Amino acid sequence: MPNQANGPEQRGLASRILPILLFSDNWLSRIGIVLVTSATVFWLWMLGQGGSGAGYAGILQFVLLPVAFFIGLALIPAGVALDRRQRPQDAPGVAFSWKSEAAKKLLLFVGSVTVINVILGGTFSYQAVHYMEGNEFCGTACHSVMSPEFTAYKDTATHSHVECVACHVGPGAANFVQAKLNGTRQLLMITTGKYARPIPEPIDRMHDTKETCGACHSTGVESPDKLRVLSKFSDDNQLTKTVLMMKIGGAKSGKGIHGAHMGGGVNIRYASTADRASFPWVSRTKAGVTDEYFAPGKNKDSLAGLVLKDMSCLDCHNRPSHRFELPDRAVDQAMLDGSIPTSLVSIKKNAVDLLKKEYSQPEQEITSALQNQYAQQKTEAAAAAKTLAAIYTRNVFPQMKITWGTYPNHLGHTDSPGCFRCHGSDLAGANGKQIAQDCGSCHQMLAVDEASPKILEDLGTGQ
Ligand code: HEC
Ligand code: HEC
Ligand code: HEC
Ligand code: HEC
Ligand code: HEC
Repeated sequence: MPNQANGPEQRGLASRILPILLFSDNWLSRIGIVLVTSATVFWLWMLGQGGSGAGYAGILQFVLLPVAFFIGLALIPAGVALDRRQRPQDAPGVAFSWKSEAAKKLLLFVGSVTVINVILGGTFSYQAVHYMEGNEFCGTACHSVMSPEFTAYKDTATHSHVECVACHVGPGAANFVQAKLNGTRQLLMITTGKYARPIPEPIDRMHDTKETCGACHSTGVESPDKLRVLSKFSDDNQLTKTVLMMKIGGAKSGKGIHGAHMGGGVNIRYASTADRASFPWVSRTKAGVTDEYFAPGKNKDSLAGLVLKDMSCLDCHNRPSHRFELPDRAVDQAMLDGSIPTSLVSIKKNAVDLLKKEYSQPEQEITSALQNQYAQQKTEAAAAAKTLAAIYTRNVFPQMKITWGTYPNHLGHTDSPGCFRCHGSDLAGANGKQIAQDCGSCHQMLAVDEASPKILEDLGTGQ
């Protein structure tokens, strides 16, 4: 009912009988009421549908509807206030005495509606926060954008149950708010399509690893030397093994790999390019003594514009999650677990070659290629093709410009320079001293590419 249609007396009377009219006889409050009620009804309906909260439905249910609810809630009193200010002083309007029956009714009404709103609003906020902390939101809300990381994340056995926020957002409210502010900016970038493809490694934007990784791991704990067995198939399907004893050590003893970088009193700092592919400058402070290493032709003045950082877990373990594979290793693994039959002659080489091509329909195209190559072994070829298509689709994401090697794993030195970006690099100190590079400082090599390493027989492991 438009204001003009009712005389001031009628308004006053009506408001006295039904308090809701006090809130609804101005356009702003009415919009508010419509927002609050429709958000609630729509939200209850979605709740009834029992959706998984994945994708855009999740954003609508847990973000947009609560936002509409709270905006609506704020508009109602704002409308009343505005209405009062605009109304002439002497108009009777809704003026009433606080001692009147109407005032009691109004207070009762406001009180009970507030209780309902607090319960609803609380549920909304709780669900929204819970949802936005969840893996479904992080991994699927933005579909193609996060799909590569979400896929690789689910495939990484050790951390596939760790929440995205446990590594990407530190604990506490301040970090949560900070992350949501970043998220809002990212949501805008996604709506406008202006985001980087591929997403750059967030090397200077990760939260302090003491609070993230440190919540579950301690480098203080001494790790015993760890046996690593790496299996490899040659182009003609011959299996060989490399056996390494990794000298992990620990921060407390200052020994081994962890001790050398994370030990007490040790601090390694570096300057790096944005992709962390090379370090023009590295310094190591140990027991108060600092050694500096520069790349040839570099000095302190040539470091402007580079990322300057203390070394952390993530400079070695940059893929604790989202571990993308390389064709060679992925095929080795599949041949080892039997999902690519080794009875197919030279399948190692053929499979790797096939993976390196581009496909729009991986399963069909790879199947037809392999069934042509292995016309006599169609069943085995089909099995191999299925596995290869799966490997392809979990590592190659054309829409995000992600392909083999886009996100290298720095834990090692064979697939990417990794440790050798510093060790064995041309970084040198003032006296020409280089960073340790003898093979034995990181691992004892017990066997290299042997068909049946004696050490494994001695240990009685059939690995
Ligand atoms: C075990 C820790 C961990 C978990 C759990 C985790 N991440 Fe990551 N994430 C990382 C690290 C480490 C990096 C790379 C940091 C670096 O390069 O220094 C990264 C990088 C990323 C990147 C940037 C692109 C890239 O691959 O470098 C995105 C996007 C991302 N993560 C999304 C997610 C999503 C979504 C989830 C949950 C489904 C998740 N992360 C769970 C540790 C984690
Ligand atoms: C919520 C707990 C949790 C968080 C946070 C976490 N991890 Fe883990 N991590 C685990 C568990 C559980 C395992 C598997 C059991 C084990 O080997 O100790 C594991 C295993 C590992 C391993 C050995 C196995 C492998 O996959 O290589 C490494 C290395 C590792 N984590 C590094 C990290 C790094 C780096 C971070 C921080 C970015 C991190 N973790 C954050 C729980 C966590
Ligand atoms: C200088 C590189 C480097 C840094 C820095 C580093 N690590 Fe490691 N870490 C390694 C290597 C190498 C291994 C052995 C991997 C293998 O071959 O199994 C390892 C092994 C581990 C393991 C498995 C231990 C086991 O007994 O199996 C965990 C867990 C781990 N690191 C966590 C961390 C955490 C947390 C941090 C940061 C506080 C960290 N690392 C810093 C290189 C590093
Ligand atoms: C950002 C540069 C950097 C990276 C990357 C790096 N290190 Fe180091 N590392 C150093 C520095 C600096 C030292 C101390 C100087 C030295 O011992 O020569 C060191 C020392 C060590 C030592 C002790 C050597 C000794 O003989 O005392 C080990 C073991 C080691 N690193 C292993 C690794 C492993 C394994 C990786 C890869 C997973 C790695 N480091 C990656 C910079 C790096
Ligand atoms: C700074 C430490 C460091 C030094 C120095 C080093 N390595 Fe390694 N090496 C590693 C790490 C870390 C891995 C990865 C282990 C893993 O996959 O868990 C590795 C893996 C390997 C592998 C296995 C490759 C594969 O198939 O995955 C071989 C072979 C190897 N190293 C040989 C050598 C030789 C030879 C030298 C001396 C020239 C050497 N390494 C020096 C740290 C080092």
